[in-house]
Amino acid sequence: MDVEVRREWSEWYGEKLGLDLDRRKALTKMVLYSTQTLMPDCSFCNRRLPRSPGASDIPIYRRCSCAGATSEWERLESKRTREIRQRSMDEWEKSVLSKAADGGKYPSSSLGADWHGVKRGPAGVAAEREVRSWLESTLSGKEKSWIYIYGPRGTGKTTLAGLIVQGAIRSATDCRYVRWSGLLHDIKAGWADKSPSNPLSELKKTKLLVIDDFGKDAGSEWVATTAFELIDSREQAGLQTVFTSNFAIHGAATRLGQDKAAAIEDRLRGRCKVVELGGESHR
Ligand SMILES: Nc1ncnc2c1ncn2[C@@H]1O[C@H](COP(=O)(O)OP(=O)(O)OP(=O)(O)O)[C@@H](O)[C@H]1O
Ligand SMILES: [Mg+2]
Repeated sequence: MDVEVRREWSEWYGEKLGLDLDRRKALTKMVLYSTQTLMPDCSFCNRRLPRSPGASDIPIYRRCSCAGATSEWERLESKRTREIRQRSMDEWEKSVLSKAADGGKYPSSSLGADWHGVKRGPAGVAAEREVRSWLESTLSGKEKSWIYIYGPRGTGKTTLAGLIVQGAIRSATDCRYVRWSGLLHDIKAGWADKSPSNPLSELKKTKLLVIDDFGKDAGSEWVATTAFELIDSREQAGLQTVFTSNFAIHGAATRLGQDKAAAIEDRLRGRCKVVELGGESHR
């Protein structure tokens, strides 16, 4: 029996039995996933079915063992299993992302955001589409270019960065999200604590690294050297990297520090697909 007919029929039947709203809802839910029928006759072979023991106020009949009823039962069972798996996956993902957001490892503006979640002009739609298709080919291992997303404030770069992380989590890809200024701060904090581990060493190995607000802070020789070291190691290791910035490559590289600007710019130009996000701020 088709799902819609099943639903209508169970609602009608629930009313006929005088069930209250909650019981009627429970009945409909059960009928959607169960061929344990509420009808005394099999809808495939018309055989009269015995009453199922244990049923309370709702008369339930045993599932028929004919081929039609069996294959219908198998179809519904696998649908139910798929839906339960999807639901627990969604819940798991939500909890992973909100925990990561609390720890600053995921942009909280991306929680609940979706691709194409804000209105953009044709150029913006094309830019967003390019980022999404880059992500798909990266996750399937085909993409070798990095991606550099830049544009004015509030155009959705951080949100896109978060959606990239979300896609990676969904496909179980090892991924890290960092804010450029946060990373510099953490490295310096490690010196003060005399910590033996440097956050850079882990980021040099992560399969997919998302660096948000690249070039935002004021540069120095150390900042430029750090950026070069990270970019160079990831390039050597063939690991995919995402940059978002308020500045085009030349501007960001120059801000990092004059001495390495040309080398960083050269690497990024050679390695990245550049996507410009324009338009109004969505804040
Ligand atoms: N795809 C989207 N779906 C829902 N909301 C979005 C989307 N893109 C952007 N926004 C909203 O627009 C606002 C600005 O987005 P976001 O912080 O990503 O911009 P940004 O380009 O990173 O800005 P900045 O340059 O200041 O860092 C946020 O409030 C965010 O919630
Ligand atoms: Mg941002």
